[in-house]
Amino acid sequence: METPVTVVILAAGLGTRMKSRKAKVLHRVGGRYLVDHVVRTALALAPPERIFVVVGHQSAEVRAALQTAGIGFIEQTEQKGTGHALMVAADTLSGLSGRLLILYGDGPLVRPETLKGLTAAQESCDGAGAILTAVMDDPTGYGRVLRDLEGHVTGVVEQRAGTPEQLAIREANMGLYCYRAAPFWRHIQEIRPDNPAHEYYLTDMVEILHRAGHAIAAFRIEDPREVLGINDREELAAVDRLLRERKVRELMLAGVTIEKPETVTVDPDVTIGMDTIVEPFAQILGHTAIGENCRIGACSIVQDSELADEVEVGQFTIIGTSRLERGAHAGPYARLRLENHVEAGAHIGNFVELKKTRLGAGSKAMHLAYLGDSEIGAEVNVGAGTITCNYDGTLKHKTKIGAGAFIGSNSTLVAPVKVGEGAYLAAGSVITSDVPADALGLGRARQVNKEDWARKRRELGKPR
Ligand code: UD1
Ligand code: CA
Repeated sequence: METPVTVVILAAGLGTRMKSRKAKVLHRVGGRYLVDHVVRTALALAPPERIFVVVGHQSAEVRAALQTAGIGFIEQTEQKGTGHALMVAADTLSGLSGRLLILYGDGPLVRPETLKGLTAAQESCDGAGAILTAVMDDPTGYGRVLRDLEGHVTGVVEQRAGTPEQLAIREANMGLYCYRAAPFWRHIQEIRPDNPAHEYYLTDMVEILHRAGHAIAAFRIEDPREVLGINDREELAAVDRLLRERKVRELMLAGVTIEKPETVTVDPDVTIGMDTIVEPFAQILGHTAIGENCRIGACSIVQDSELADEVEVGQFTIIGTSRLERGAHAGPYARLRLENHVEAGAHIGNFVELKKTRLGAGSKAMHLAYLGDSEIGAEVNVGAGTITCNYDGTLKHKTKIGAGAFIGSNSTLVAPVKVGEGAYLAAGSVITSDVPADALGLGRARQVNKEDWARKRRELGKPR
């Protein structure tokens, strides 16, 4: 019978090598905060009540970044090292029996299977714990694993404290540990800051427990890539790429065509249906759900939106928090800024901006328009250059256009205003009052032609 696991995730440090004013774990990779990745993975091993995050730098922001209900937080007000983080955590955690799985908040790629391997390695040896190690080509920056002549693990030495012989060791501590709770908490206060950095190193626990007569197992993995800790922006970019690759590969294997997948950015919660085609440099973000047989044009950005089946998004189109029904088209060069509802088969063309607008089924706004706070019925034609004047400097007002209406080019609709079903607006009109159904709305000066005016001007050879 396995003993219960308590997970502790260290996320209190600033992360000086990031050169940032923002705590390291608040940087994002693969569409999520670094620490959020780790918490989600931890859920595969322990229920939320058994997951604790040690916070310090910008702790309020780190707490806010973690949406997982039920997890606990421990404040490490001063960050005196990874060992100090656990010394602080002892108050809250030393009463919990079973086992302790310690993870660092800057290692977002680790898989649940690897954590299970580590806890199994601890369970199967009768020692006090197991540490995860890997033989690296270049372990610079990592703690090195010290072993005695029989190969038993005796300690971990940090880069800054190691002798040249120790630093030549290529087996590195990856920063994931599983300890039996009882001996761990019994010895935690023995860590001393007797190293060049004057920090309390969690890694010293290996030697402390070894000297107290407890065996420590090494759970060695072949490929260290998934447990690399992110320390600087270059590593951040490299891990982001890996996570993005994972996501697009998943989608491709599920039947989505992705052209030049290395250029495409898809956030983790995005879903895309079969036979949809995603063109190069598209970004599909947030909680977007895309149906089957759609096309997402090159360089488009779709965020927190819902696209039904057969939707076409042209190139260079930006869509935010909107819903597009079956067969709708938007773009190229369109912007559906916020909370729009584009009904089935409607078409939005280039340089058209929509905000809080419902565009009815089969309606068209093909060129150069701004439609804000509008209710537009089915089968409406919105001519080029149409503007809804929805803002009077203080308040926003609604424009309502009935089904089947025809909005002539370059119309200016001064809201609040209503255009009835089947009505026509003459091109170039400024519409300031409601237009009844089936009427013609005409709001512009009558044209005047002055006969011979131009010829006379030429003959006199001077301007008039
Ligand atoms: C650590 C290990 C090193 C290992 C490497 C693997 C120690 C002393 N060294 O080094 O052996 O090879 O990880 O990636 O543990 N943190 C706190 N409170 C603190 C200090 C740090 O919560 O007082 C958190 C940080 O926010 C971070 C994590 O602990 O998420 C690791 O700290 P970091 O400074 O990155 O450790 P490394 O120097 O990488
Ligand atoms: Ca690190």
